[in-house]
Amino acid sequence: MQRLAKKWRRAGEDIGLVPTMGYLHEGHLSLARAARKRVGKRGRVVVSIYVNPTQFAPTEDFSKYPRDLKRDLKLLRECGVDVVFTPKDAEMYPDRSAVPTGFSTYVIEENLSQRMEGASRPAHFRGVTTVVAKLFNIVRPDVAVFGQKDFQQAAIIQRMVRDLDFPVRIIVAPTVREADGLAMSSRNKYLEDDLRRQATVLRRAIDMARAAVKKSRKISAAELKANVEKIIESVPDARLDYVEFFDPETLVPVTEVSGGVQMALAVFVGKTRLIDNERL
Ligand code: PAF
Repeated sequence: MQRLAKKWRRAGEDIGLVPTMGYLHEGHLSLARAARKRVGKRGRVVVSIYVNPTQFAPTEDFSKYPRDLKRDLKLLRECGVDVVFTPKDAEMYPDRSAVPTGFSTYVIEENLSQRMEGASRPAHFRGVTTVVAKLFNIVRPDVAVFGQKDFQQAAIIQRMVRDLDFPVRIIVAPTVREADGLAMSSRNKYLEDDLRRQATVLRRAIDMARAAVKKSRKISAAELKANVEKIIESVPDARLDYVEFFDPETLVPVTEVSGGVQMALAVFVGKTRLIDNERL
């Protein structure tokens, strides 16, 4: 991958990268299309598929995370992607558990990664920033595209790029939703019929908050949080992990919610943990 990217750069071709963990859906394909739009017909689009072990806690779904490389490759071929980069664990993290000779360098963002996903999933963002830094160094893209669905992840990567001077432009592309409003996610595969129906509760909670802000212009975050909790609790198999209202730039929580504030929530539906967010 490094050799190929070097050849492209020498030929003056712009490179766009879309990092993914595979099991692709329309959301991922929209990121690949956004990358193509940025680099143009003569540029190169790389999609990486790598289920990154360092961003999963031992209790999480790393081993059962859905994988279907054959289907992914077919979708990406149809989408006009130039290269699909599928590194192996042994290449990305040689001898990770071997002390003292194994892999031992990580990238840690220390501020934006503390709350929300970072609080619920300690070490998650350390894994994300580390693998994304590695992918940036391997591919050396001009642009990299991430989904708005992982809002906090995109903010942290933007911060990492700024703080560590990665010469790459980050594009954050809009969330793609199912017809009933559920944000597309590879983890939606875990939702069987009834749970799939219950999963629309995230969208309903966002719509409620939107309507409340539109109506009152300013509303207390505590009151909105209580209302979100009520909506989530009204669904038999749903359990709220967190809901936050915050400044979209700094991710600092607000006490008064008005237009322009970002909302994010994580909800367990059965055993599946789903996230969603929106600018109100
Ligand atoms: O958003 C994801 O799928 C992953 O966190 C990423 C950015 C590919 C890093 O493994």
